[in-house]
Formats: sequence, C-alpha cells, structure tokens
Amino acid sequence: MATHKRSAADPISGSSIYAHIVGWGMAVPDRIMTNEEMSAIVETSDEWIQARTGIKERRIAGERDSTATLGLKAAQRALEVADILPTEVELVIVATSTSENIFPSTASLIQDWLGASNAGAFDMSAACSGFVYAVHMAAQSIRSGSIKTALVVASETMSRVMDWQDRGTCILFGDGAGAVVLQASDVEGGVLSTVLRSDGSGYDLLGIPSVGSLDTCAPVVNPNGHKMYKMHMNGSEVFKFASRVIGESITQALDNVGLRLDEVKLIVPHQANDRIIQSAARALKVEKEIFISNIERYGNTSAASIPIALCEAIEQGRVQPNDYIVFVGFGGGLTWASMVVKWGAPEAEERQAAVLGKQRRQASYTLARWRARLIRFQRRLSNAVTRIRPNEGRVHRLRHKIDQHDLR
Ligand code: COA
Repeated sequence: MATHKRSAADPISGSSIYAHIVGWGMAVPDRIMTNEEMSAIVETSDEWIQARTGIKERRIAGERDSTATLGLKAAQRALEVADILPTEVELVIVATSTSENIFPSTASLIQDWLGASNAGAFDMSAACSGFVYAVHMAAQSIRSGSIKTALVVASETMSRVMDWQDRGTCILFGDGAGAVVLQASDVEGGVLSTVLRSDGSGYDLLGIPSVGSLDTCAPVVNPNGHKMYKMHMNGSEVFKFASRVIGESITQALDNVGLRLDEVKLIVPHQANDRIIQSAARALKVEKEIFISNIERYGNTSAASIPIALCEAIEQGRVQPNDYIVFVGFGGGLTWASMVVKWGAPEAEERQAAVLGKQRRQASYTLARWRARLIRFQRRLSNAVTRIRPNEGRVHRLRHKIDQHDLR
C-alpha cells in the first residue's frame, strides 16, 4: 500500500488520484538511411536536408519489422522499467498513422503478444499529436478511478506510406516506436494539464488517404491527385501552423496549472523540423536548449517522436524527480496538443507494484504466444469437426434440450 498521505483533490480535475508515468521504452529499426542514400532516390542533397530540417539520417523498417513488432519491443521495455506484469495492464492505446490493419487494431495485437489479458485495446488516430492525445486518454481513465494501469504505445512505419518520388516529404520521415506505462497513485504529480486541439479545415494540408476516402475514389469531386496510402503534405503551410501552435498550446497548458515557463525543466516537442523548434523557442522567448532534439538521427517518426525523445532525455539525465516537463505535438488533422507532467514516479513499493523478475515477464510473453496459438488451433479444430460432422452442433443442442426438459 502507498505510504504517502492521500493528497487533496486536484483543483482542475477534482480527482485525488494522479496518473504517473512509471515506465518508458523505445525501439527503432536497425537499418539507418543517410541523407546521401536519400539523394540516390530523389533529387536532393545532404546539405539541403540538413540546412532545411536538421535531419542527417533516419531508421527504416526491415522486412521483419512492422508497426506492431516495433511497438511490442518498446512496450516490453516500458513494462520492464515499470516492473509490472502484462496482466496488470488494463488499457492499451496505440497512437499510430501506420496501423497494421484498418482493423483489428495494432493495440489488440500488442495486447495479445504481451499477454495483457485484462486489458481493453484500441488505436488512436491523431497523427503526430497522437501520443499526447493517447496519454491524456489513459491518464483520464486512471484519474476517474476506472483503471489503475495503462500502456500507451506510439509506433510508426512511416517509410511504408512515403511517396518515394516526392522529395518534399520522403526526406523527412523515419520509423520507430516509444511507449510509456501510466499508473494510479495518490502522490500528487504525473499528468497535470493537457490542451488538445483540432482544426479540421486544414485536413488537406497533410494526410494519407485510405480506403474510405473521396480523395482517391472520386477524383472528379476531389481532384487533388493524392495517392492511396501515400502521404501528401503542403510543407510551408504545415511549417507556419506548427511554429504558431507550439508556443500557444504550451502557454495554455502551463496557465491551466498556474506554472510559468521558467519553472519548466524540459520541453519534449514532436520532432518534425529543427527550424520549427527554433522558431517556437523564439516565439516563447526561451533558449532552444530547453527543447530536446534528436531529429538529426531519426527524422520525423510521427506519433513515436515524443516518447522516443523522452526516453533519450531520461537516458541523458535531463529529467529528474519533481521536474516539470512539457510534451507538445502537432500534425495532420490538423491537430495539436500540449501536456504538463510533474516527473517523479513514486517508488516501486509505494506503487503497490510487486517486485518482479525479468524471468516472470519473459515467461508471460512466452505463455501469451502459446495461449494465442492454442486458441487459434482450437478454433481451427472445432471448425474442421463441424465441417466433417455438420449436424453435430444441432445434435448437441437437441441433446441439451432433451436433458433440460427430460423429454425421454
Ligand atoms: N531537396 C532539395 N530541394 C528541395 C527539396 C529537397 N528535398 N524539397 C523541396 N526542395 C526545393 C523546392 O522545390 C523549392 O525549389 P524552388 O525554389 O526551385 O521552387 C525549394 O527547395 C524551396 O522549397 P520549399 O518547399 O519552400 O522549402 P522549405 O524551406 O519550406 O522546406 C520543408 C521544405 C518540407 C522542409 C519545410 O516546409 C517543412 O519542414 N515543413 C514542415 C513539414 C513538417 O514538419 N511536416 C510534418 C508535421 S507533423
């Protein structure tokens, strides 16, 4: 049991349950694609890409990588840090624009592979703002008291939705995944404030048309020339939008909890373009160093960029207990989102987390694999039996009726 005294109710939410980030993890594919390699595909150069974006290289998913497999690795690492069993997770949200399927959700696949058998699971579509949206949903579920533990994964295989003939977009994006575990606590802190916004009038500035789209199915109505499942973008408009909303939404999220910008230790922005971050820093009148940037190594990994940057900030010791940190995302929709977090997960024993060995988690993953195989095998077997003996179900039901009503 938590030893801390229960805190007073939070003035914003009225809840005295707080949602803390207690685990984090990231995963990127091994394959690195440099700007030089990019210039062999489209007419561009290392100098141009670095000068206009800050990107030097990005990761590209291999044949055995997918949105779910990268997300799974990040999730396993986050559970490791949180030191919890998959069965403790009650909600899995995957923020992605490159889901494995329209459905089933990537979240359901990861839930199954982890063996998170007590969890609900769904995907979240808010483009590059998706991670902040998903953490907000998870935190709200925790703060309402309906669940105690949630897993948020942001995973992308952007390389698979690039138009590799469009140098305005394909140079920017990369693949990767990040994840966090959130847990209920009565210790004040964790997710303190969120600002979520959308302006759908900018729907045509950045997008990936899919099966239900008028954009590709009815070119007469929508003569945009966009390609199905390929990203299109109006770079300069998106640039202006992003530079404006970062400062605005951070200020709003801080105002909500009465914090000043000079009390913030670190801003973890969506990694879209180094020049966007510089412009936001100028607008906020802060040093650029308050923002973490790793765009030079990964490019824009869409929803995954914030948790990946968070993991690296933690690794570098840039986040310490009681620090106020801010996440800020923006992207297709248009959507944008800011979140203020008071860092400092309560100690494991205070979180009621059982101290678990790595082996128990590994055993749980293996068990999950076998469980899924067994269930699928049973399903196939029962289908085969029904095919061989089509009347068996009817006979069985009839027997049951007879037993029930004692008609013999
Ligand atoms: N290599 C070389 N030249 C390129 C190029 C590339 N990859 N892409 C565009 N150009 C050229 C253009 O054709 C144009 O040439 P022109 O002047 O002869 O017409 C010139 O460079 C300037 O193009 P422009 O689009 O104005 O460049 P920019 O400075 O706006 O940079 C982006 C383009 C895409 C890098 C920039 O607009 C951007 O980063 N926007 C935000 C995108 C983003 O972050 N999206 C995701 C948000 S989640």
